[in-house]
Amino acid sequence: MLADAANPVRDRNIVLIGFMGAGKTTAGKLLAAKLSSEFIDVDDLIASERGMPVTEIFRTIGEAAFRRMEKEYIEELCAGKRSAVLSLGGGAFLQEAIRDVCLSTSDVILLDISWDMWKSRLPLIRDSRPILQNKTDEEIKALYDSRQAIYAGHHFKVNAGELTPEAAAQEMFDWLASRARG
Ligand code: S3P
Repeated sequence: MLADAANPVRDRNIVLIGFMGAGKTTAGKLLAAKLSSEFIDVDDLIASERGMPVTEIFRTIGEAAFRRMEKEYIEELCAGKRSAVLSLGGGAFLQEAIRDVCLSTSDVILLDISWDMWKSRLPLIRDSRPILQNKTDEEIKALYDSRQAIYAGHHFKVNAGELTPEAAAQEMFDWLASRARG
């Protein structure tokens, strides 16, 4: 592949996965800027095309309908785009079809965060995530635990909980550059 360390030329999308609040959007935008690539937050894309925020989609047509849309959008993005940074909602990898299409067409990077670190961010995101509504702390911990298995499929992992978004973006960039060189 044609590339240099300063600007790895990309022929695959980069897909960012991880639990809500792990920093996929913030670090993803920084990574896209480093790569001079387009950044696409799949939730924002769905919200803008459907004319309502994801919370409203959950409220009006429900999670199952949202999951169908999420799958359609991701499959289309994976089929069409070849050099974008795609940030997926934290539940997207629940669907095997999404895992399969991302892992086979793209470089999948997990933004990992420990429970203790994530718990400290919970007050910042609790009200804005439909999936956290009406859940006790125990139920949220169970959700966090159950999600770890779906994130097991990835090509690279950054410890996003311990890094600044800039450092996380740099680690991802360095990994992509080293692969491009190799
Ligand atoms: C969800 C995560 C959200 C969003 C939706 C469902 C989940 O995305 O897709 O609220 O099931 O974990 P973020 O991970 O960007 O918060």
